[in-house]
Amino acid sequence: MSNVRQRRPIHTPQDDQVEDEDERRSRDSGFWTHAAFVGLLTALVLTPLILIIIPSPIDPVGYSFKPRPELVGPLEPNNHLQKAEQIYDGQVLGPESIVVEGEHIYTGTMDGKILHIYKGQVQVLAKFGKEPCGGFDNEPTCGRPLGMRLDKNGYLYVIDTYLGLYQVNVATGDFVLLWPTTAEINGKVPKFLNDLTIASDGMIYMTDSSTKWDRRHNRYCIFEGEASGRLISYNPNTNTTKELASGLAFANGVQISRNEEYLLICETTWARIFKYHLKGPKKGTMEVFMDNLPGLPDNIRLSSGGGYWIGIATLRSKGYEFMANKPWLRKLIAKIISQETIIKFVPKYGLILEINSEGEITRSLHDPTATKVPSVSEVEDKDGVLYLGSYFLPHMSRLYLGRLKT
Ligand SMILES: *[C@@H]1O[C@H](CO)[C@@H](O)[C@H](O)[C@H]1NC(C)=O
Repeated sequence: MSNVRQRRPIHTPQDDQVEDEDERRSRDSGFWTHAAFVGLLTALVLTPLILIIIPSPIDPVGYSFKPRPELVGPLEPNNHLQKAEQIYDGQVLGPESIVVEGEHIYTGTMDGKILHIYKGQVQVLAKFGKEPCGGFDNEPTCGRPLGMRLDKNGYLYVIDTYLGLYQVNVATGDFVLLWPTTAEINGKVPKFLNDLTIASDGMIYMTDSSTKWDRRHNRYCIFEGEASGRLISYNPNTNTTKELASGLAFANGVQISRNEEYLLICETTWARIFKYHLKGPKKGTMEVFMDNLPGLPDNIRLSSGGGYWIGIATLRSKGYEFMANKPWLRKLIAKIISQETIIKFVPKYGLILEINSEGEITRSLHDPTATKVPSVSEVEDKDGVLYLGSYFLPHMSRLYLGRLKT
C-alpha cells in the first residue's frame, strides 16, 4: 500500500491546479461539443417541425412565366424618366391616381383625402373617412382613395378601396356614396376596390383586386398569387352592380377603349393585361390581351399617342419568376418573413410602357437608377404632359414628352 503510494508522483498544489484546469477544459469542451450536437440536432429536427406546424399566412397558387422579355427594341432602356420633375413634394402623399382637367389636378392620398390642385395651390376637396389617419389599423376607417375619373358632366368618380364608389361635385366638394363596400356584389363584398373607367353612357366599370385581401395586405395578395380579383360594372341609373368577370390575380387598372368596344384590365400579379369585350360576337367574354410584361402593371390610361400608358409598379425579377411556379416555397417563406420584409427584395426600377390597340409595346420610358422615379402607379397623359402617380411617394412627377430627345 505504502509502495503504491510512494510510486505516485508527488503532488504539489500547483500540479493539482494544472490537472484541475485540464480536467475542466476537457470537461468543458466535452460539454460544449455535446451542447453543440444537441443544439444542432434540435435545430435539424425542430426547425422543419416548427416550419410545418406554424401556419403560413398565405395559400399560394403556382404560375409559370414565359422567359422575361429582353429589354431591346421598344423596351430598350433609356433614362427619360429621370427627367421628370417632382411636383407638390410633401403636399401629396401617395397620389395613386391623377386626373388633370385644364388647369385643375385631382388626386387621392394615403391620408384619405381628395385633393384639388389649382394654380399651384393644394386644397382638400373632400374626405370620405374619419380621423385618425396614418397607420395600419386606421386605414380602413380613414379610407384610401385609389382610382378616379371625371365623367362627361364634370363629376369626379372616386374609388375608396375601403369605403366604396363615390361621386364628388368638384365645385362644392359635396359627395355621394354610390356603392358602399358593405354591399355584396355577386355574393361577396368587394374587399379591395381599386380602379374605374367610365363609358360615355355613364356606365362605370371597376376592379376589385381581391375578395380575400385588402389593400394593406397587397404584398401577400401578390406573393400568394390568388385569383379572386374581378371586374364589376355599376349602372348609376339603376344603382346596380354586376360581376362581369372573375379569376383575376390582383385585378388593377381598367380602361375603356376609345371605340368603347372593350375594356383593358391589368392583372398585376402575373404581369398580364386582359381584354373584356363589351360589344361584338365576343361580348361578355374576357381573354388575355398581353402577357409576359416586363414588370407588374398598375393603372392603365389613354395615351396622347393614340394608345395606352401602363404604370409599372415593379420590374419582374429572377427571384419572383423562380418562385412563381413554386407555391410551396412561397408558402414557407411567408412563414418566416413578413410582407414588409418581402417588399425589401423587390427591385426598384422606374418604368412606364406605351402600348397600342394590338397589344404591342410601342414605347417605354425608364429610370434604371430608380432615383427619380422608383415606381409608377399611373400615367395621366394630358396632351403630351405626363403626370406620374405613386401609391407611396410624397409627390407626383411631371414629364414633358415633347422635351425628350428620342
Ligand atoms: C345602391 O345600392 C346599395 C346596395 O343596396 C346601397 O347600399 C346604396 O346605398 C345604394 N346607393 C344609392 C346612391 O342609393
